[in-house]
Amino acid sequence: MKNLSRYLIKAQEEERKKIARELHDEIGQILTAIKINLELLKRKVDKELQNQIDENINLINRAIDEVRDISLNLRPSLIDDLGLTSAIKWYVEKIKEKSNLEINYILEFDPKEFSKDFSITIFRIIQEGLTNVVRHAEATEVLLKVIQKDNEIEIFIKDDGKGFDVEQVFKDINKGRALGLLGIKERVELLNGRIEIKSEIQKGTEIRINIPLERDI
Ligand SMILES: Nc1ncnc2c1ncn2[C@@H]1O[C@H](COP(=O)(O)OP(=O)(O)OP(=O)(O)O)[C@@H](O)[C@H]1O
Ligand SMILES: [Mg+2]
Repeated sequence: MKNLSRYLIKAQEEERKKIARELHDEIGQILTAIKINLELLKRKVDKELQNQIDENINLINRAIDEVRDISLNLRPSLIDDLGLTSAIKWYVEKIKEKSNLEINYILEFDPKEFSKDFSITIFRIIQEGLTNVVRHAEATEVLLKVIQKDNEIEIFIKDDGKGFDVEQVFKDINKGRALGLLGIKERVELLNGRIEIKSEIQKGTEIRINIPLERDI
């Protein structure tokens, strides 16, 4: 069972990488080409049409930004390029831009000690945890902590949102409804870690994850 999960997680990461590359290289290139064409066209037309072209250029700029964001979200090579700490910071900033959430974070670890798979797991957990807060919690504040203790790393995500019935959600998960928390749980268990979710209606949710350090996927 663990081998299957491990294989599926690897396959999913590979697939995401491929989609990210295609999005960035194919769609990104085409959008940039359209933008250049419109800029050239703009010089040849009168003022009124120029404004209309500008509106379209703005739309294309938004699409280019979206494509970049989507492919960065999909592709953990961001972790290779920037390192885990910067990748997490980048992600938190993105979430801040897109929501009205106040996010405080404490990152205290030495990613040099982590394997690539280990770093990806940590990034994915944070991604899912924060995405859930944005999508479901109606929170105003989030605290994210990623802290290295003796032989383990602890990830803590706490929001002050509306909370949820954890037991009920996990029953639904077994019926195949939501996959985010299940994905986190599987990744954590593969690394022999523990996950604890506490949630109180109208008060908020706390997720605490501890993963022993030396393991690779
Ligand atoms: N921080 C949170 N605050 C409130 N409710 C939450 C929070 N996190 C999860 N939930 C609830 O738990 C459910 C399951 O979350 P899960 O991440 O597994 O699935 P999902 O986000 O609905 O879908 P996806 O598969 O895209 O992640 C959510 O639908 C939501 O009702
Ligand atoms: Mg989710």
